[in-house]
Amino acid sequence: MLRLEKLTKIYKTGDKALNAVDLEVPQGQVLALIGPSGAGKSTLIRCINRLVEPTSGTVTLDGTELTGLGSGGLRKARRRMGMIFQEYALVERLTVMKNVLSGRLGYVPFWRTLLRTFPQSDVDEAFRQLDRVGLLEMADKRADELSGGQRQRVGICRVLIQNPAVLLEDEPTASLDPKTSRQIMRLICELCEERNLAAIVNIHGVAKTALRQFPGPALAAHCFGALPDRCLCLD
Ligand SMILES: Nc1ncnc2c1ncn2[C@@H]1O[C@H](COP(=O)(O)OP(=O)(O)OP(=O)(O)O)[C@@H](O)[C@H]1O
Ligand SMILES: [Mg+2]
Repeated sequence: MLRLEKLTKIYKTGDKALNAVDLEVPQGQVLALIGPSGAGKSTLIRCINRLVEPTSGTVTLDGTELTGLGSGGLRKARRRMGMIFQEYALVERLTVMKNVLSGRLGYVPFWRTLLRTFPQSDVDEAFRQLDRVGLLEMADKRADELSGGQRQRVGICRVLIQNPAVLLEDEPTASLDPKTSRQIMRLICELCEERNLAAIVNIHGVAKTALRQFPGPALAAHCFGALPDRCLCLD
């Protein structure tokens, strides 16, 4: 269970991006975050793993208060939070397999990270993840030889091999065409259900007019191509 209590972020510039947000996301729930540009969607996602430091309020994951952790504790806690990015953040010249395995870097001993060698059990798990998302044949290809949708699926595998409890996704499909976007969103929803993961997915490109016109869940369903369990609208 991920819990936010009175989460507030005021940037140095004086911008109040989040104002006392209360939110609970139980395991297995996919929460779609919608709202116009500047509503604070990215800020909310980044305050959870403290890429952005909240000004006040708390974030708790499975009973551990993340907002109170020092750097060592935070590093450990971040293993439990998988981040998926709009621009995939793959290492372009490395193979698909090596990109997926890099999700294990937080777990393997330091010398292994220098040599980039991984235990066989990690390699086996990487193959399983690639098979699950339909990319088994691509394992030895370089990341820069893949399409956008394939790259995002590699990004998803890299996060899953981390064995996270929560997925944090900031506009995961913003760089994809509508059809591929819906396929990726459906995949994310299926994976969360299969693995009982909590997820917060920030959906891009929702105009204010559309927000006025449609109730949140219907809009999110349209953007998702799959119904998220819940929808939170920031404005
Ligand atoms: N590093 C920063 N310094 C100062 N202000 C910031 C910073 N990052 C974001 N903000 C401000 O905080 C508010 C929320 O920004 P945020 O990026 O969270 O919005 P968003 O909902 O993700 O928007 P978009 O849909 O355009 O990505 C905005 O007013 C923005 O200008
Ligand atoms: Mg944003």
